[in-house]
Amino acid sequence: MNNILLLGSGGREHALAWKIAQSPKVERLFIAPGNAGTVGVGTNVDISVNDFSAQRAFVLENKIDMIVVGPEDPLVNGVYDFFKNDPETSHIPVIGPSKKGAQMEGSKDFAKAFMKRHNIPTAKYFSVTKANFQEGIIFLQSMKAPYVLKANGLAAGKGVLIIDNIAEAEKELGNMLNGSFGQAGSTVVIEEFLSGIECSVFVLTDGHSYKILPEAKDYKRIGVGDTGLNTGGMGAVSPVSFADKTFMEKVEERIVIPTVEGMKSENVDYKGFIFIGLIKVNGEPMVIEYNCRMGDPETEVVMLRIKSDLVDLLDGVANGNLDNKNLITDERFATTVMLVSGGYPGDYEKGKVITGLDEVKGSIPFHAGTKAWDGQILTNGGRVIAVSSYGKTKDEALEISFENARKIKFEGKYFRSDIGFDL
Ligand code: AMP
Ligand code: GLY
Repeated sequence: MNNILLLGSGGREHALAWKIAQSPKVERLFIAPGNAGTVGVGTNVDISVNDFSAQRAFVLENKIDMIVVGPEDPLVNGVYDFFKNDPETSHIPVIGPSKKGAQMEGSKDFAKAFMKRHNIPTAKYFSVTKANFQEGIIFLQSMKAPYVLKANGLAAGKGVLIIDNIAEAEKELGNMLNGSFGQAGSTVVIEEFLSGIECSVFVLTDGHSYKILPEAKDYKRIGVGDTGLNTGGMGAVSPVSFADKTFMEKVEERIVIPTVEGMKSENVDYKGFIFIGLIKVNGEPMVIEYNCRMGDPETEVVMLRIKSDLVDLLDGVANGNLDNKNLITDERFATTVMLVSGGYPGDYEKGKVITGLDEVKGSIPFHAGTKAWDGQILTNGGRVIAVSSYGKTKDEALEISFENARKIKFEGKYFRSDIGFDL
């Protein structure tokens, strides 16, 4: 039996909690800090994801057997190492990479150098700081438009600029190095532009063996037809039609195996989820980015497509016997449509009353940014609810998600009505 503490408060965490709670291996599930949805499947604990010492006290007091980390922030800040290096908690597995392993997401430069060392296909690049600015300009000028500039550090998915004009790219490079993205931009990775269609592949690893979870495609832009500003993600679909068997075999051989082996050969502790952002260029997979956690809203469809007991798989990660575990996937399609606050991803208001949740039929409304207050459920973020559904086809699943997306109401609600349009 397991007592589990899950860190996080978004749609990803509600979906993880929903799946974890279905396991017969779980005795108690706590979510810190959770949201108004996670109370339906576990107990919320008012501790922030980065307050490791409060987590430690809670874990000891409540005899927690496993900590599952949702978001990247605590991983990059070293939550794995914090628990591992403390004699009183070192026996409690943390599902997520060490601080070093989390650099795959925490530093674009680290990830690019790793891929280069292990021959993993990715865009050509050059890393620039103020010290080698002139070389950076020369590299930029050797590239063809459009120009890709990435802030090295965590920037909540907003650290990438794609610029058509060389003069403007040179200017932006200077701005980034001078702090337009804060500390995250003190190193900038310049990349060759890749053209193709993207999808996300998720790997669960115990550091030796691995399971490839169902892939998904997410929709990052706010507007219909992939237009407008980038968001955290407006919806997702799984499976992805172009990620066929041949493509996925290439992904496994050229990317997944060298990634897991590369970590091992470099003695990097990595026991958790690896999110590989891929682009298909002329039929061949290339890596756009690594994240050290599951995707949001991809988790809201990936969890629907895992039939196996997730906690049994996580036990395999913790005990280093993941290769003895079985991953069974659901053949059906899963889709999610994100309801967001008016104004998002710019300024938006919180605290709007959400109604219609009890009218939802055939979908699972994963809460992303909600809070319970005085018997009501209020909006509490830009992304509010991920309406997730199964279907025999992508279109059937989407139709159910859209129908329920219309039933849930709050002032300013918006959702993209064209999720899955390009598949
Ligand atoms: P990232 O934060 O690295 O995932 O980048 C955000 C988005 O920028 C990706 O999902 C891509 O759509 C785009 N992008 C990043 N790198 C490249 C690249 N080298 N070529 C083309 N598009 C890119
Ligand atoms: N949906 C993209 C991400 O989680 O980073």
